Amino acid sequence: MTTKHRIIQVGSLAGSPTANRSLAERYDIVELWKYPDRKAALAEHGKGITAVVTSANHGADAELINALPDLKAICSWGVGYETIDVAAAHARDIQVSNTPDVLTDCVADLAWGLILASSRRLCAADRYVRQGKWGGTHDGRFPLGARVTGKRLGILGLGRIGEAIAQRGTGFGMQIRYHNRRERADVPWTYESSLVSLADWADFLVVACIGGATTHHLVDAGVLRALGPQGTLINIARGPVVDEQALVKAIQEGALGAAGLDVFEHEPRVPEALFDMDNVVLLPHIGSATHETRQAMEDLLLQNLRAFLETGKVLTAVGGRG
Ligand code: 8YV
Repeated sequence: MTTKHRIIQVGSLAGSPTANRSLAERYDIVELWKYPDRKAALAEHGKGITAVVTSANHGADAELINALPDLKAICSWGVGYETIDVAAAHARDIQVSNTPDVLTDCVADLAWGLILASSRRLCAADRYVRQGKWGGTHDGRFPLGARVTGKRLGILGLGRIGEAIAQRGTGFGMQIRYHNRRERADVPWTYESSLVSLADWADFLVVACIGGATTHHLVDAGVLRALGPQGTLINIARGPVVDEQALVKAIQEGALGAAGLDVFEHEPRVPEALFDMDNVVLLPHIGSATHETRQAMEDLLLQNLRAFLETGKVLTAVGGRG
């Protein structure tokens, strides 16, 4: 009889219909989130643990990492890893894996859903019909939206997802520019070295960069002002990249035209001031939330874990440290 590897799982992967079960079938899982005293649970179960499973939501901080003396790999479900202390992990030669590529298309599709929904006022139009306003007591005229085709698309963060969003933009005949940590020689789009200049130029500014300290509040009041009353902000990346208070104020004052948001600064809390605004589309962080993509994320998580346990190396290591 072979004994199952014991693994610590930091939080429930509830966003996947099968991931928790798949993990439990293959491994002896310590469900850390079920213990009221995490420190005590780590002290009790931590010895001999070589692998931890987590997600962008649940993270892995230095305290957790340093409570596990034998840890060698942290395998995360999701592409973002700003909640994992990668520096603390790498300092101890602990590999960190995420699930890149498999969610790129669905997140890019959703960005486009938000571009179309916010500029053509799709959600407000849907509410208008449901509320019986079309041809009802109202005069039946729904406010006009803004054209998408041929407009100026600005991308903040031209990684895998940003690039997929830009590629879709070519199908809409968009002019495309981007702002990134560095200019890319392998893409046909114009680089803007300043985010304010990009926002000033763009009709749509799409946030597609990483989260974490390096991008915190990158989109501030000045950037929103530059985007302007005819501009639309789309965020499918991380809430804290945008100064949410400044965003609410800009929309309230008419300084920003519209917004399409899948992510928020303090999820799942959404500023109530946005609820009544018809020029804002609000989604509950569903960028990767399709059957196909969530399955692919689960598969890649399991492949990383298995590769680590069988070969000592994860497959998709962050920071090139496999
Ligand atoms: C997930 C995500 O919804 O992959 C990411 O970084 O934001 C999403 O795919 C989720 O945050 C994973 O925990």
